[in-house]
Amino acid sequence: MKLPSRPRRNRKSAPIRDFHRETWLHPSHLIYPVFIFDGDGRQPIPSMPGCDRLGRDALLEDVAKAYDQGIRSVVLFPAIAEHLKSSDGKEAKNPDGLVPETIRTLKKQWPDLLVVTDVALDPYSSDGHDGIVASDGRILNDETVEVLCGQALAQARAGADIISPSDMMDGRIGAIRTALDNEGFTEVSILAYTAKYASKFYGPFRDALDSAPKFGDKKTYQMDPANGREALRELALDEAEGADIVMVKPAGPYLDVIHRVRQATTLPVAAYQVSGEYAMLQGAVDNGWLEESAILESLIAIRRAGADIILTYFAPRVAAWLNED
Ligand code: PBG
Repeated sequence: MKLPSRPRRNRKSAPIRDFHRETWLHPSHLIYPVFIFDGDGRQPIPSMPGCDRLGRDALLEDVAKAYDQGIRSVVLFPAIAEHLKSSDGKEAKNPDGLVPETIRTLKKQWPDLLVVTDVALDPYSSDGHDGIVASDGRILNDETVEVLCGQALAQARAGADIISPSDMMDGRIGAIRTALDNEGFTEVSILAYTAKYASKFYGPFRDALDSAPKFGDKKTYQMDPANGREALRELALDEAEGADIVMVKPAGPYLDVIHRVRQATTLPVAAYQVSGEYAMLQGAVDNGWLEESAILESLIAIRRAGADIILTYFAPRVAAWLNED
């Protein structure tokens, strides 16, 4: 055949493929989400094979392993004892609660580790919602934002580097920025869950924290999976309110949203490969239905779509593979 153009020439050997590879994955791109509980040892999470809820020692052990592989950032998700949960989620503001205590421990051990904290009430809410629930079942926006500011301050006072609101209340980024600045925490960053969808892919996470909604769903605050433009509206607000990093969640099924957000902002973009994405991949690998390297492919696709930063439960394992190369 007489062909003027033969794309295969640019794929003929590893060095030539390396020449023009467009996307890389490096341990520095990854944030490691960890589940913590007030106690010792580890508790397996059945719907997330290979992930455990971590007690004090187990957390230090797993973070040390991740740190050794070049992971410099963790995000904390607490499993809160049932008796500490309430309708107003006030345990979220406790300066000696599980999260502030864990932040202090981690920062003491690894001062250069970026400790990211989740802001939302669901782990602390007896209703399993991210906000305060009114007697008629509505989620109260402005009242919730006030508690979230208290939660963010408790985390900042304990030494958190990045505050990450995942609740999807309106106006919380600006309110938290003001609350932080008023106390002198101008250097504490905000990673906003900008486009967080009402997704069934969070199921295993809610098993891990025992935090599923006791009634209803999260559709009045999290976004409709059918919508893309709405992500750009949330982006404009979060930028104007002072977000430092914006996030899309879930990641794999929402690559188009990552791409649109990437094109619309100059801020760093993060994407969260959530618990359900983890469960699908790990479950298939454990059954021998997929090769383990499919995990790397899922992450490179998220980077190609436009994410600078990826939150993934695979972080330490992937970092170890990348370091072997
Ligand atoms: C709650 C929160 C959720 C996740 C992160 N923060 C669950 C939810 O919104 O119900 C999900 C993460 C995952 O599935 O891995 N504020």
